[in-house]
Amino acid sequence: MKVLSVVGARPQFIKAAPVSEALRRRLDEVLVHTGQHYDPTMSAVFFDELGLPHPDVDLEVGSGAHGAQTAAMLRGLEGVIRAEAPQWVLVYGDTNSTLAGALAASKLQVPVAHIEAGLRSGREDMPEELNRILVDHVARILFAPTQTAMGHLQREGLGDRSRHVGDVMVDALRRLEHRLEPSVARRFGVEAPYLVATLHRAENVDNPARLQRAFELLGAMPLRVVLPVHPRTRGAMAAAGMRTPPNVVDTEPISYLTMMSLVAQATGVLTDSGGLQKEAALLGTRCVTLRPETEWPETVDSGWNSVVDLDKQAALEALAIPLPAQRTTAFGDGTASEAIVTTLLEQ
Ligand code: UD1
Repeated sequence: MKVLSVVGARPQFIKAAPVSEALRRRLDEVLVHTGQHYDPTMSAVFFDELGLPHPDVDLEVGSGAHGAQTAAMLRGLEGVIRAEAPQWVLVYGDTNSTLAGALAASKLQVPVAHIEAGLRSGREDMPEELNRILVDHVARILFAPTQTAMGHLQREGLGDRSRHVGDVMVDALRRLEHRLEPSVARRFGVEAPYLVATLHRAENVDNPARLQRAFELLGAMPLRVVLPVHPRTRGAMAAAGMRTPPNVVDTEPISYLTMMSLVAQATGVLTDSGGLQKEAALLGTRCVTLRPETEWPETVDSGWNSVVDLDKQAALEALAIPLPAQRTTAFGDGTASEAIVTTLLEQ
């Protein structure tokens, strides 16, 4: 059996690492990079560090408006899928690369498997929400990371095509956990206690008033905050002439291992990323989510995450809540990748 996997953005490199390893033990994989993320710090460093195989094809699509970017990916993927004639096309998450992979394959009658299916924020002004819904509805198999995601798929009439396999981000973290660096914060001139933050969601970053509020929130924190800055955020800061507050250590994007090492030793994480909410919970670090909602309610229900939007006072209060006694098991036990490969082989 031949599977063609489509990746393109930073979180997809992380998710694909354990899945690609599991796939290649039992079948053939062709790995296609759309080129959505292309800076070495957003792409190459993840392939090297995670041992993800070099892409068989790089479409080098780069940045652009949603339509232009997705169209360039569609055009490239159509040619590759035709030439490779895989039995399955595998797509991850909710980026424009996910949508392009799912559309190109389904138009060519090649069945699509969607990893991290069934997430919903209820907000259709989020580009990722549109991508999720569209991809789930054209995919042949939906691999749900949580029971909540399964519930969404069942409600949309997709239950028969869905399998609850757990979250491949647990698999990714388990593979690398023994390599975490305890004193990594020193590289950023910081010592514990400290906080880690990330901001990259279009809803926060492309709106100067919200970005300003987010920086004010970080500036009100009682500790130093290490902030690896996503290129989208760097661009928005330059456009608005905005600088980070004095307690914030602003760095370039950092690798997965460096980020996980920083988070593991941090007093708290402040973020609008989806993946980091889970990673913080899995590493036993409190998370404060800088959005009005979360796709990962399990992180909140288990007591590891507080959703505060950009409310400074609520963020301070959330950081003061004692940590829960137990880690969450809602995201599975690190065997999602194996379950995905087994399911594909059974079809
Ligand atoms: C994308 C995903 C988002 C995901 C995020 C992870 C979509 C709609 N959004 O958002 O769901 O959480 O990736 O990081 O697909 N840029 C660079 N170098 C790069 C990549 C991007 O400079 O290597 C800059 C460009 O100016 C670009 C901007 O960042 O226009 C945004 O990049 P894009 O890939 O369009 O969206 P992300 O914000 O990264």
